[in-house]
Amino acid sequence: MNKLLVSLLLTFGIAGFAQAAGDAAAGQAKVAVCAACHGADGNSAAPNFPKLAGQGDRYLLKQMQDIKSGNRQVLEMTGILTNVSDQDMADMAAYFASQSMSVGATDPEKLELGQSLYRGGKLPEGMPACTGCHAPNGAGNAAAGFPHLGGQHAQYVAKQLTDFREGARTNDGDTMPMRAVAAKLSNKDIEAISSYIQGLH
Ligand code: HEC
Ligand code: HEC
Repeated sequence: MNKLLVSLLLTFGIAGFAQAAGDAAAGQAKVAVCAACHGADGNSAAPNFPKLAGQGDRYLLKQMQDIKSGNRQVLEMTGILTNVSDQDMADMAAYFASQSMSVGATDPEKLELGQSLYRGGKLPEGMPACTGCHAPNGAGNAAAGFPHLGGQHAQYVAKQLTDFREGARTNDGDTMPMRAVAAKLSNKDIEAISSYIQGLH
């Protein structure tokens, strides 16, 4: 990576923290209302509820702000963040970020296609590999706000990729790279890549 890019990423990372420094211990006391769906430590049981454990705090805080404002529509969370302050959201983000995301399994029949798309992209069609932003092991890049994917529920991942592709998850400019990537994915590609991600670590 060149120096300019590294310093840009660091600047953005620090700016993200300066926005509201989260306190993980304080956050743990505030997530009771989230636990029914996302799990007490952020590892949800149901495959349509995303795991938040081990997710980057910058990404978590941004999604909460977008869900609260309605920029990202999550019907299940209607009203839940209405009276939650920025400090409370930062504390909850810090708590979930301090946990570890559990890892599931990849369907062996989907491994080959999923892995080749994740690691190699579709270069002839101009689709980059996922590794560049989400890292080879799926850890993402917390400072840059690129989400952790490794171990995430396949059903949830498949829904997000479909939503990006169909324009149902647009939020704001931050989703632009994903809308461009998902435009190149068929339904079969999405199934394979989501299964691969569920077992990735
Ligand atoms: C009734 C169930 C429910 C409750 C309670 C709930 N959530 Fe959610 N949450 C969801 C669902 C479902 C989604 C994903 C929707 C989708 O498919 O896009 C989600 C998405 C999220 C995301 C985005 C995750 C990502 O990977 O992009 C964050 C962050 C989040 N919730 C935080 C919270 C917090 C913090 C609380 C408690 C204050 C909470 N949620 C309570 C159901 C719930
Ligand atoms: C240029 C960087 C970049 C590339 C390449 C990229 N992503 Fe992303 N991805 C992002 C960013 C940034 C977000 C968060 C968008 C937001 O803030 O809402 C994201 C979000 C996601 C999410 C939603 C995560 C969640 O918890 O809801 C999934 C799933 C995802 N990417 C999968 C992929 C896959 C699969 C590939 C390869 C086919 C890929 N991404 C390639 C940058 C990238």
